[in-house]
Amino acid sequence: MAEQKILGFAGSLRAGSYNRLLLRAAAEVAPHQMTIETFDLTPIPLYNQDLDVGEGPQPVARFREAIDHADGVLIATPEYQHGISGVLKNALDWASRPPGRSVLRGKPIAMMGASPSPVGTARAHMQLREILLYVQAQMVVVPEVLVAHATEKFDDEGSFTDEVGRRFMRQLLENLGEAITASGAEIISTLR
Ligand code: FNR
Repeated sequence: MAEQKILGFAGSLRAGSYNRLLLRAAAEVAPHQMTIETFDLTPIPLYNQDLDVGEGPQPVARFREAIDHADGVLIATPEYQHGISGVLKNALDWASRPPGRSVLRGKPIAMMGASPSPVGTARAHMQLREILLYVQAQMVVVPEVLVAHATEKFDDEGSFTDEVGRRFMRQLLENLGEAITASGAEIISTLR
């Protein structure tokens, strides 16, 4: 099977973020043909249409290029006030432009999320789906990796210890891999 490059990013900037740790776990359970590189959203400025000319600010240009060159995307979303974080929305706003030529368009994208609450990030997922639907991303929506009670699911080293959650994550990545193969994205990336 062809190599599949995934770009992962988390909608939380904090050092001990459970969502950042989820990305680390995803790299551990990923199928053998898949590599997951993470992109840190910290340097992405607040969206300003005045600055969105040409390639845009340098961190934004790097972010868009990283998405463009990836075969697929994996988003780890926290839930803030029943929606996605401003950090994630802001990054997606940059990536969604220019309209009609967004690097998100047609891109196979999977999502997961962790929260200390008993309901995980279910509501943030629904909001994220709405956004990704509008930018015409190719969403991989099952299985839903909704990590609730996150305080109990990571050990002192930050490893994601929930065995069922890890199996779900592995299945989600396998489904993402299948979507990439079906879309021919990895073939396109070998032609670059
Ligand atoms: C939260 N948190 C939260 N959790 C949740 O399950 N539903 C929610 O609506 C909210 N709302 C919310 C708003 C704001 C402003 C903050 C700072 C936090 C708690 C949140 O899930 C928790 O802080 C997570 O640890 C955030 O994810 P990271 O940073 O661990 O990846």
